[in-house]
Amino acid sequence: MAEELSVSGISKAERYQSLLPQINALVQGENDFIANVSNIMAALKYGMNFFWVGIYFVKGNELVLGPFQGTIACTRIAKGKGVCGKAWETEKIILVDDVDQFSGHIACSSSSKSEIVLPGFKSNKVNFVLDVDSDKLADFDETDKKYLQQIVAIIETKSNEQK
Ligand code: SME
Repeated sequence: MAEELSVSGISKAERYQSLLPQINALVQGENDFIANVSNIMAALKYGMNFFWVGIYFVKGNELVLGPFQGTIACTRIAKGKGVCGKAWETEKIILVDDVDQFSGHIACSSSSKSEIVLPGFKSNKVNFVLDVDSDKLADFDETDKKYLQQIVAIIETKSNEQK
């Protein structure tokens, strides 16, 4: 049996592999950070067909909503709260197959069923988290982890290039 089922004939990994160079090209030569992050979120939403994708920036003792694609979301998340606040606190990628089983999950949309959150760093400290939500249970796996880490690396580089 195939490791990844795909009705369109293209696997999730292939979709990421096709999208990544396009995202790199999209942000090349542009140093406005918010413009770049906004386009990266749109590229992820429409390239990967995600339910919700967005970034939260560490500002003081909270995460504050940045560019996103999808339904409206909570604006501020305290450190340690929800999946996003936990990813910040633990400095680790968190993959949640069923958000109802994650104690403290913050439901921005009742349609959200599974989630992956990846921390991004600046000077060895968490600077932002990338949050992707799905309306299907257990929709994220090691493939998402691998390629979304590459997206996080692009955002980290762009953040460091910022004037
Ligand atoms: N579910 C997240 C909150 C952000 S929204 O999903 C966009 C959490 O528990 O941290």
